[in-house]
Amino acid sequence: MLDRLEQQAPDALLALIKLYDRDERPDKIDLGVGVYRTDEGGTPVFSAIKAAERKLVEQQDSKAYLGPEGDMGFVHALMPYIFGENPARGGRIEGMQTPGGTGAVRLALALAQKSDIGRILMGTPSWPNHAQIIKDLGLELVGFEHAHADGSADLEALKNALQSARKGDAVLLHGCCHNPTGIDYTAEQWDEIASLLTGSPVLPIIDLAYQGLGQGLEEDAQGMLKVLASVPEALIAYSCDKNFGLYRDRVGALYAMTESSDQIGPVMSNGHSLARANWSMPPDHGAAAVRLVLRDADLTRQWHEELDRMRERMRQVRDRLAQAGKAGNVDLAPLGKQNGLFSMLPLSKEQIQALRDDHAIYMAGSGRINIAGLTMGNIDKFIAAVADVSA
Ligand code: LMR
Repeated sequence: MLDRLEQQAPDALLALIKLYDRDERPDKIDLGVGVYRTDEGGTPVFSAIKAAERKLVEQQDSKAYLGPEGDMGFVHALMPYIFGENPARGGRIEGMQTPGGTGAVRLALALAQKSDIGRILMGTPSWPNHAQIIKDLGLELVGFEHAHADGSADLEALKNALQSARKGDAVLLHGCCHNPTGIDYTAEQWDEIASLLTGSPVLPIIDLAYQGLGQGLEEDAQGMLKVLASVPEALIAYSCDKNFGLYRDRVGALYAMTESSDQIGPVMSNGHSLARANWSMPPDHGAAAVRLVLRDADLTRQWHEELDRMRERMRQVRDRLAQAGKAGNVDLAPLGKQNGLFSMLPLSKEQIQALRDDHAIYMAGSGRINIAGLTMGNIDKFIAAVADVSA
């Protein structure tokens, strides 16, 4: 039976990690997978997390099973950051831990499917794994353009998609730091999105994977909060992989908001049974470390400072690129207005390949770059290389 299976191409983005590792050129630049890097090019463990991990080693007295919901102390400690004041909305919002943001997206979509959602409206391009999960679940993807060529979000396209939507549809929105474009909806556009969703049959699913990496922790949740204030129910997929630097520890959460507090129990129980059938329970370590950070005022302050430094460094890189203006035929100016780890360059497949072959610069085949892969030491080389391949 197994010989029926055909060879699958490796995930293009994850394959880049290995290609980059194998390259022996000393001045190589990795702009591939979304991992934050310091100006020295490293991805150190947050010092707040290190301290929490030390506490965990000393204090944890058991590794016995928790349950499919994971560490509820972690799930609840995050809620004021995500949902602001009155985070549980009178018992209408509850959550559960998931293996990373991917687990949260998978669970959100599977839960939507269990509630008879058949179609997912989504702006494209999007994080490639979104479409992959949608397809794997057998849901239908209805795509629309996420952004205009000038680097602004295409609200009209979203509007048209929502206006022609029907019961049984969900819309998948990026809460902030759009992956891969870096182009977020403006505050005014979020107001419009919220009013379009008012009374609409479409279920909002919001992927919030980069809170704190765009404009700030509070600021990055504002669009999502506008939507939540206008709709009876929604699903929110959350990741701590980036804002706590916990990538390989796989730390995420799924939150549901229901119309009334009596509905939250049944919804979460479906989340729990889906989790049980998929991964049984999420890995504990990273979530426990986040809980310890958020329950300790000093560690929380340290975490805020580390997150602020990350955001400020990425802003500096963006400013520098924007100041450069044109690199050959590529206009870098719009990158200054975009948010988070990613932006896209209008480069052809051949130009992306030439960047790799001739300049040891690795980026996704879509033209997406990880802004944090650029440092004050390599940014000039990058700009010159883009000019070289695109001239
Ligand atoms: C990315 O888009 O690079 C990250 O979200 C990592 C991943 O899992 O793809």
